[in-house]
Amino acid sequence: MSELNLILLGPPGAGKGTQAERLQGDFRMPHISTGDMLRAQVAAETELGQEAQRYMTAGELVPDEVIIGMIIARIAEDDARDGFLLDGFPRNTEQADALAAALEKLDRRLSAVLLIEVPDEEVVRRLAGRRVCVKNPSHIYHVEFDPPKRDGVCDQDGARLIQRDDDQEETIRRRLEVYHAQTAPLIAYYDSDGVLRRFDGLRSADEVHDRIRATLATLRLEETF
Ligand code: AP5
Repeated sequence: MSELNLILLGPPGAGKGTQAERLQGDFRMPHISTGDMLRAQVAAETELGQEAQRYMTAGELVPDEVIIGMIIARIAEDDARDGFLLDGFPRNTEQADALAAALEKLDRRLSAVLLIEVPDEEVVRRLAGRRVCVKNPSHIYHVEFDPPKRDGVCDQDGARLIQRDDDQEETIRRRLEVYHAQTAPLIAYYDSDGVLRRFDGLRSADEVHDRIRATLATLRLEETF
């Protein structure tokens, strides 16, 4: 397989960011997280960030016209030439259609869509206890399942750990409703294309990682025959 073009799909809190951080190390591909890109815009107080923040805080999707152009431009950048790992995009069929059209234009195709499945109640437990590094949002912890060595301090760079604004229970429940209504239809969408691979997100983060790696290794092997 010359390039690995991957999507991480799953409800909020399934562990997409956690797995992306590990896979990025394995395969040296850019981790393209729409959530992280939007939060960077919010922090920089750009016009786009100010518009996005209203939707994010409410647990709603940011309008397609803001997101689609940003991602299509990002996957055409040099560092994504040999592959990319999309996390948080696409989130509805309009975004999936736009991605398909952009890949076709670039004469590229999706290698796999990695679906991490986790029930709603587990999502609430995970997100309520999640803490993220203020300096690097890829450094993700959980107060119970994956605590840092020192309370409130990132193991990797010593920065402060914070709770995301949208990790309040009411917002988490709204994000779940939005996921089931708008994003879950992508499961059938990619299943019918034959690119969907399912993973049990209730396993430990290490086990999920091992299984994804094994699946990607098999995909690469299949392509050599
Ligand atoms: P986004 O940032 O994409 O959030 P999300 O999809 O809701 O996903 P999360 O980041 O909350 O969860 P995750 O699956 O990455 O889980 P994590 O690894 O952190 O989007 C935020 C908002 O931005 C959206 O609501 C929307 O407004 C907007 N937006 C973004 N993209 C958009 C788009 N394309 N279109 C429109 N709007 C968009 O893990 C969660 C916790 O669980 C952590 O504490 C972790 O330590 C723990 N954990 C992970 N794996 C395990 C495990 N196996 N066992 C036990 N604990 C685990």
